[in-house]
Amino acid sequence: MAEAVKMQVKLASGEQDTLESRRAAPNPVIVTGGASTSLKHESARMHVSGEATYLDDIPEPRGLVHVVPGLSTKAHARILSLDLDAVRAVPGVICVLTHKDIPGHNQVSPVGKNDEPLLAEDMVFYYGQPIFIVVAEDRHQARKAARLAKITYEELPAILTIAQAREAGSALVWRPLEMKRGDVDTGLMNAPRRLSGRITIGGQEHFYLEGQAALAQPGEEGEMRVWSSTQHPTETQHMVAHVLDRPSNLVTVEIRRMGGGFGGKETQANIPACLAAVAANATGRAAKMRLDRDDDMIMTGKRHDFVVEYDVGFDDAGHILAVDMVLAARCGWSADLSGPVIDRALFHADNAYFYPDVRFRSEPLKTNTQSNTAYRGFGGPQGIVAAERVIEEIAFATGLDPLDVRLRNTYGTGTRDLTPYHMTVEDSIASEIMTQLAENCDYRTRREALREANRHSPYIRRGIALTPVKFGISFTATHYNQAGALVHVYTDGSVQVNHGGTEMGQGLHTKMVQIAMREFGLTEDRVRITATTTGKVPNTSATAASSGADLNGMAVLDAISKIKHRLISFAADHWQVSEQDIQFEPEGVQVGETLVSFPDLVKAAYFARVSLSSNGFYKTPKISWNAETGRGRPFYYFAYGAACAEVAIDLLTGETRIERVDILHDAGQSLNPAIDIGQIEGGFIQGAGWLTMEELVWDKAGKLSTHAPSTYKIPACSDRPHIFNVSLLEAAPNREATIFRSKAVGEPPFVHGVAVLQAISDALASLKNYKICPQLDTPATPECILRTAERLRALSEV
Ligand code: MTE
Ligand code: HPA
Ligand code: MOS
Repeated sequence: MAEAVKMQVKLASGEQDTLESRRAAPNPVIVTGGASTSLKHESARMHVSGEATYLDDIPEPRGLVHVVPGLSTKAHARILSLDLDAVRAVPGVICVLTHKDIPGHNQVSPVGKNDEPLLAEDMVFYYGQPIFIVVAEDRHQARKAARLAKITYEELPAILTIAQAREAGSALVWRPLEMKRGDVDTGLMNAPRRLSGRITIGGQEHFYLEGQAALAQPGEEGEMRVWSSTQHPTETQHMVAHVLDRPSNLVTVEIRRMGGGFGGKETQANIPACLAAVAANATGRAAKMRLDRDDDMIMTGKRHDFVVEYDVGFDDAGHILAVDMVLAARCGWSADLSGPVIDRALFHADNAYFYPDVRFRSEPLKTNTQSNTAYRGFGGPQGIVAAERVIEEIAFATGLDPLDVRLRNTYGTGTRDLTPYHMTVEDSIASEIMTQLAENCDYRTRREALREANRHSPYIRRGIALTPVKFGISFTATHYNQAGALVHVYTDGSVQVNHGGTEMGQGLHTKMVQIAMREFGLTEDRVRITATTTGKVPNTSATAASSGADLNGMAVLDAISKIKHRLISFAADHWQVSEQDIQFEPEGVQVGETLVSFPDLVKAAYFARVSLSSNGFYKTPKISWNAETGRGRPFYYFAYGAACAEVAIDLLTGETRIERVDILHDAGQSLNPAIDIGQIEGGFIQGAGWLTMEELVWDKAGKLSTHAPSTYKIPACSDRPHIFNVSLLEAAPNREATIFRSKAVGEPPFVHGVAVLQAISDALASLKNYKICPQLDTPATPECILRTAERLRALSEV
């Protein structure tokens, strides 16, 4: 078993903490072991100095107009009349556009469902749906004008919640999925013990720091250039073309970086891009749409909230024998990505555990709310929260340590290794990771000590939990698992790398630069990563499913390999050496006995008319998935990890403090340990925020009440764990042939937040001497914790 290595993060020049010494300091992250390097983020300096260009920082073209949407104020209604005269009358307003002004198709469903008009026609389906856009010289005027529309509605019954949707027999936005193995009914019937329950799991606002934004500039003969804060430039290109009724070759979409996406810009970014393009088309001027934070929160989709019902059969030793689960999700008014999101929840409702007999069923429910969408983990975290609730139920029912229940039920190797979707788990390392983490952080001793302390503490109760994650890597839509790249070597030996992935802070571009540095033997300053554009790499997939580095890394490597082959073949001939004797090293290119500098080699190759540019392509091998049969190998591999959280809750106020968190995470042979540790830390915090403080509230009319940072609370610096130790699993290269044997790291660590939820639950369980499962719902806000404590206290003594 691989040994964990502690990452030490410290300033290299501790004593003289001046700006000058910091600038002179080498990279402050010290990595012990492994071949990977912790190159700092390619934009780190610009991020902190404010020089990094986000969409709204692009110098504005002459004659730019501003676009602001007019939103529905009913959750479900027929539009009887739309009077926009007062809107048009505001000084500076150039025009007001409705669905009638869309030159092509008024349709932006990303999954071909034709259920998502860009601008409402005669009906509105949620409070916040865009009905028209105001195009004005000035953004403030446009915002003011947008509120002056006189709209009369015929209100229709609105379905807002999962419960209402089920009661009304609401439509599904996607085919329900069923996964099963074995005979769950018999399994449940024959189990010595059985229990059932339900958990409500809340949604989550993305709260990317940079809101949704797009800038469209018309060109000649119908060309449209679009800058969009999008995770999926190709889809944005296709949507703009569709809405304008033009071929895709007239539309180019470009994105240098996002100020966060987190899944919220996988499809939702299409809306401002299309609306800006419609305005640019109508006015012949460049048009920008930068959503106000409130409009952004009211208009765009969020993480799906779920209600999961579970029925589990087990024995006194805590062995799970059968699991039946129904996972119902609030999808909102249109399909968007809800189908694959809910599917992924089912793919993760086993987390790291083998269920001998199992059945999972999905209910993707249509509601009159924002169309919920991708969000870090893509439904997987919700499935895992349900799986961990089942573990907890069994632990409190049997009196076992939840960690022991976990360890007894993890997937085996060669046996007990088949998932509910009939994919074999070939590398079950969850129990080893949990065991190692438990030892490293002294879980068992601390657990005993906490329980003892709780006996003497009436108001402050402490809890601890250690939870695993097993996360499937690949898009479940198999065709998405492809990528392209375009690499240019210029005659001065400098290199430009382009690929289909987008940068949203996760460090993808840095990793791509590292691949080029390593392959060509170059320093960082000789490799330039450019903005992502559909003009350089076409037909790309969203940067999502954590697969950005896996897919684009291999495509970049492919492009570089082609150029290297040509250079090697040229050099072998030119210097009369064998091809095997040519190596690209940091000192230069070793050509037999001669050391040739990279620029000299490139120049010589150019004069010999050797092409110094190449595209690259990659598709993930081995994967397939059939939703009809519920069987396949949807994932190339799994990423693993475990987290141990210790919390203190205050029974008077309901507040939680995260005292200590230890995480051991599997990033394979990490491409960049510093960046990966950043992803783990950030993912954990975002996951803990989702489960403890971020709460979405809609009023009775279906209006989102929590539409600004004043009412929607995300974790602040002060909410981070007081002690926070993050380690990478060392010497754990991916068994599959991924880019340099690394593993995807973007989403899996989000799930580590589950340890906090379980620790809060453990603290609450102290109220009933650890004999009753608190059945804590999420988000476990102070109110929710107080309610749960009250419910527990009212239960008869045990
Ligand atoms: N990290 C930062 N800083 N900002 C982001 O928006 N998005 C997450 C994750 N980490 C995100 C992030 C999500 S939802 C995904 S799918 C991955 O990054 C996408 O990037 P990758 O595939 O290159 O890891
Ligand atoms: N994950 C993330 N985004 C996606 C997926 C997925 O599996 N499928 C389509 N978009
Ligand atoms: Mo990430 S939710 O797959 O964009």
